[in-house]
Amino acid sequence: MELNGLAAVVTGGASGLGAATAQALAKAGCQVALLDRDLSAAQVIADDIGALAIACDIADESATEAAFATASSTHGPTRILINCAGIVDAKRIVGREGPMPLDAFKTVIDVNLNGTFNCMRLAAAQMSQAAPLDSDDARGIIINTASIAAFDGQLGQAAYSASKGGVVSLTLPAARELAAFGIRVMCIAPGIIGTPMMLGLPDAVQDELVQQSLFPKRLGKPAEFAQLALSIIQNPMLNGEVIRFDAGMRMPAPHSSK
Ligand SMILES: NC(=O)c1ccc[n+]([C@@H]2O[C@H](COP(=O)([O-])OP(=O)(O)OC[C@H]3O[C@@H](n4cnc5c(N)ncnc54)[C@H](O)[C@@H]3O)[C@@H](O)[C@H]2O)c1
Repeated sequence: MELNGLAAVVTGGASGLGAATAQALAKAGCQVALLDRDLSAAQVIADDIGALAIACDIADESATEAAFATASSTHGPTRILINCAGIVDAKRIVGREGPMPLDAFKTVIDVNLNGTFNCMRLAAAQMSQAAPLDSDDARGIIINTASIAAFDGQLGQAAYSASKGGVVSLTLPAARELAAFGIRVMCIAPGIIGTPMMLGLPDAVQDELVQQSLFPKRLGKPAEFAQLALSIIQNPMLNGEVIRFDAGMRMPAPHSSK
């Protein structure tokens, strides 16, 4: 898919993986809209790369519908959706204070899984109505962001892992259904990438995580995630698949369960 001039929506575009991907898309000539609940941070990135910043909580149905309407009225129908907005919350199922509050679980599912689907359905609707872009009759592409926690969830990651497992499982049925419109659906499952979400962890924890990589033993860079996203967009044969982006990292079972 030729990127120049295409309308792209990047959720979570105010920070980390979303900001890096938005920057790469803008550099490639896309018309980029950043959807983020942190409007002031999104505006800083938008001003820097010549994008449109839109305040939006992706778990909010009507706010997200309004955000996609604004993006398409400014840039035309969405052709590329990069779903990067997400939250992390570490809580045990049974902690020192008793069972995990159900709302804590629901909140993570609501943003990471329901929010991803919410944006997917709205972007797909716009793409399905748009003209084909090339000789394959491609109309658009959706790239969701899961995590290796979908496969190797750690202690305290029940909610996060469940949410990302849902994003992984969404990939194939969505790709099968949306193929009829010429829309591809892909998913990236990152390992440990140096973004504000990860850099907030203590150094010792980051070092321990990095040691689980095969090679290279370092944090991934947001620009490397963006490089993969652009490569997926540009390669029409990638569809319905989850790509681990983790330097061969496999998380071990914990030494102790308490
Ligand atoms: N950084 C990593 O190592 C790593 C690893 C695996 C998966 N991921 C996933 O990658 C994605 C991006 O993570 P990141 O590291 O760039 O995080 P980040 O915290 O740097 O950025 C996340 C962005 O999402 C926005 N956001 C959060 N909830 C939102 C909501 N409800 N509506 C709209 N915007 C919302 C935040 O404001 C922020 O700008 C997340 O889905 C995360 O789970 C990250």
